[in-house]
Amino acid sequence: MARQLVIGNWKMHGSVGQIRTVLPELVRAELGANVGVCVPFPYLALAKSLLADTPVQLGAQDVCEFHIGAYTGEVSPAMLADVGCEMVIIGHSERRRYFNETSEMAARKVNAALDGGLLPVYCVGETLEQRQKGVAREIISEELQVLAGVPTSLYTVAYEPAWAVGTGIVATPDQIAEMHDFIKQTLDARTRVLYGGSVKADNAATVLATDGVDGVLVGGAALSATEFLNICRHAR
Ligand code: PGA
Repeated sequence: MARQLVIGNWKMHGSVGQIRTVLPELVRAELGANVGVCVPFPYLALAKSLLADTPVQLGAQDVCEFHIGAYTGEVSPAMLADVGCEMVIIGHSERRRYFNETSEMAARKVNAALDGGLLPVYCVGETLEQRQKGVAREIISEELQVLAGVPTSLYTVAYEPAWAVGTGIVATPDQIAEMHDFIKQTLDARTRVLYGGSVKADNAATVLATDGVDGVLVGGAALSATEFLNICRHAR
């Protein structure tokens, strides 16, 4: 089995100073290619230069669905690849919630990312209201339509229940195992499925030992080198 992935999502956090402090600590820890960091656009080139001699992967947190042209404010897949990105997060619940991103938009972004040679880390997950109504599976299977027809080796899925993202409430191993199984049944048994939502150093061992978990997508805890390295140590 491939090594479990640990991907850090810095969201809209950080500064030149913080990148220069945290990333060298990751370099010193001699992490492998199963680890990735997704920093804000302005810091990608700096991050790449700091990670240059390591297998640690670099990623962005969003990408434009178009390849080139008059799209003020947007960043293309080719630009991400040009500065050394290997992956890109697409369809994160925060983008769906605050920027009205739909699965249709995410599908176009996934295709653009694939054309640009990037690994899409495609996020799916239900809100608390949807879970309570008993429609979590319907929501997720609708979100998974985005990946229909894409060979499973070309992407990674992240199951991130919105009620667990940034809340300090981590889904239980049973909830995680059930949804990862559902995602693999819907797509392909070989699909890599990461869990995301309040993963910290003190719960990473439990999450990463859960059935069907091929890695974790880490938000808040990725901003501290100590915390992030402790999570990486639990990857099997
Ligand atoms: P969190 O975020 O770890 O801060 O809950 C996870 C994510 O949004 O990817």
